[in-house]
Amino acid sequence: MQSFRIAVLKGDGIGPEIVDATLRVLGKVEELFNVKFEYKEGLIGGIAIDETGTPLPDETLELCRDSDAVLLGAVGGPKWDNLPTDKRPERGLLKIRKELDLYANLRPAKVWEPLIDASPLKPEVVRGTDMLVVRELTGDVYYGEPRGIFEEGGKRVGVNTMRYTEDEIRRVVIKSFEIARKRRKKLTSVDKSNVLEVSGLWKQVVEEVSKDYPDVELEHLYVDNCAMQLVRRPSSFDVIVTGNIFGDILSDEAGVVVGSLGMLPSASVGDKHALYEPVHGSAPDIAGKGVANPIATILSAAMMLKYSFGMDKASDLVEKAVEETLNQGYRTPDIYSQGYNRVGTQEITDKIIENMERYKT
Ligand code: NAD
Ligand code: IPM
Ligand code: MN
Repeated sequence: MQSFRIAVLKGDGIGPEIVDATLRVLGKVEELFNVKFEYKEGLIGGIAIDETGTPLPDETLELCRDSDAVLLGAVGGPKWDNLPTDKRPERGLLKIRKELDLYANLRPAKVWEPLIDASPLKPEVVRGTDMLVVRELTGDVYYGEPRGIFEEGGKRVGVNTMRYTEDEIRRVVIKSFEIARKRRKKLTSVDKSNVLEVSGLWKQVVEEVSKDYPDVELEHLYVDNCAMQLVRRPSSFDVIVTGNIFGDILSDEAGVVVGSLGMLPSASVGDKHALYEPVHGSAPDIAGKGVANPIATILSAAMMLKYSFGMDKASDLVEKAVEETLNQGYRTPDIYSQGYNRVGTQEITDKIIENMERYKT
């Protein structure tokens, strides 16, 4: 029997709830596909600060390096919001991404047919939307030096540095063209090259790489315009490639366009490692209430099955089961649910598992 080692980092807020739900789905995959998953849990985020004094203990990092894939919930919460930025839970996430060199964050956002009425946009605008945001994940203003709050002439000044090397840009752009080639062959590169030198370099590198991909249609958009086009013509996008901060913001926007942020999965990949996590955060406002939408994390696990384990059939079955559950009218409260079967985390997971049983081949 095949077996895979999964590092499980539940994190904070709704993290444990949505990861537990996802592990139940993976349990069903084990049962149906004759595969064994070996889980090892590691601490990250606020809980790691509380228990070890640091948001990413070395043991967690070692565990992740030594696993076939990492499954992560979310980090952060009000308890740690007053810590200086370099001591916060979120810093653990930035460190794990950097240490594992997870430079491409793939964030698919497609509208599921049963959720067309859950989008705040008109059905005819949102129908057919199926995009993939490729967010560069290990550079940009998130990591640039110098950074800090300094004193200058008796006044405080806050400093962050937006920075990309051409190699950092090139590798994520190549990955994006490769992905676009396997999809609808359209790539939108998003920058702010009318103002920022970093973006000027970004655009130049995209142009250079594009010469190797004449079959892929290339479009450049400024980020402000892209934010607007995402709600005006979402279905026109195929692959979007952009830097770390723009990708962070645009992908949350893409989430609501397709019905709910609670639906958006992601895969953070490098050349050696891969980590799977929902796009959303730890949702402290609903933590512990049993109403968190586990689908973003369940679909992240489906991405793990496909990309890290080559289990395409199992991955497709999980997606199919999610779609059927939505077709049956089950929705967690983050999805517009007037007139639908409003359910909590456990119940929607039960339904997904039932549908896996029903649609197994
Ligand atoms: P958030 O994504 O946690 O929540 C935004 C809103 O969406 C909230 O109203 C929340 O209830 C809702 N929401 C998000 N995911 C949901 C789900 N699965 N089901 C139902 N509703 C859901 O963003 P925020 O409130 O700005 O941040 C909260 C904390 O999470 C902060 O500490 C932030 O730094 C952290 N965060 C972590 C990650 C991560 O770990 N990858 C990502 C984003 C934010
Ligand atoms: C995300 C989050 C993180 C980010 C935070 C929590 C560090 O918003 O994964 O989208 O900005 O990358
Ligand atoms: Mn984000």
